[in-house]
Amino acid sequence: MPLPFPFTLRTATLADVPAIRALIRLSAHALSAGDYTSAQVEGALQGAFGVDTQLLKDGTYFLAQGEAHTEAPVLAGCGGWSFRRTLFGGDARADRDPERLDPRLDAAKIRAFFVHPGWARRGVGAALLERCEQAALAAGFRRFELMATLPGVRLYQARGYVPGELIHWPLPNGLTIEFIPMSKQAA
Ligand SMILES: CC(C)(COP(=O)(O)OP(=O)(O)OC[C@H]1O[C@@H](n2cnc3c(N)ncnc32)[C@H](O)[C@@H]1OP(=O)(O)O)[C@@H](O)C(=O)NCCC(=O)NCCS
Repeated sequence: MPLPFPFTLRTATLADVPAIRALIRLSAHALSAGDYTSAQVEGALQGAFGVDTQLLKDGTYFLAQGEAHTEAPVLAGCGGWSFRRTLFGGDARADRDPERLDPRLDAAKIRAFFVHPGWARRGVGAALLERCEQAALAAGFRRFELMATLPGVRLYQARGYVPGELIHWPLPNGLTIEFIPMSKQAA
């Protein structure tokens, strides 16, 4: 059982973008090594995985920060939610749709969760997810949905998300990557 490293959550700002980009690259390669090839991860980093600065401007993207006195890296994880239509993807994805959702009809989107490998399985992803769901509930949403990576499925399933049918998402480098749409109804 790993020691409990303390961390806190805060809202990300545009000044955090370089650190978030580095974290996403590191997390995606290290924590999906058993699920995807490194060529798939590289392809996904060209659009499917990445920072969507719209969320930072909206104030709906959060960072988990470790306390400096612990040995673990300070930036422990990132993740957000959105009241806009885009389901996944960073700034490099040209077809993002910023249309605002209707909380009475639509599901809030859970977006871009990446945890530092030095912080894996310490509750960072679950804490970020809880923060996002609470914020979406406060905005009036009653359903949540996301496009999960294969590593992500394990976190979301443990938190009550129901998987849909696996898709093979085409990547810019000619490969495809397996994703699973997931959704959850608020209690
Ligand atoms: C998916 C990811 C965000 C999970 O983050 P995490 O901080 O390690 O997850 P948590 O410690 O909060 O896990 C909460 C629960 O989810 C489940 N879970 C998470 N990771 C798991 C794993 N690798 N194997 C089995 N169960 C897992 C467990 O039930 C866990 O509770 P437990 O540790 O008490 O058993 C992380 O693995 C990651 O960043 N992966 C690479 C990037 C990625 O694919 N992101 C998802 C985008 S959709």
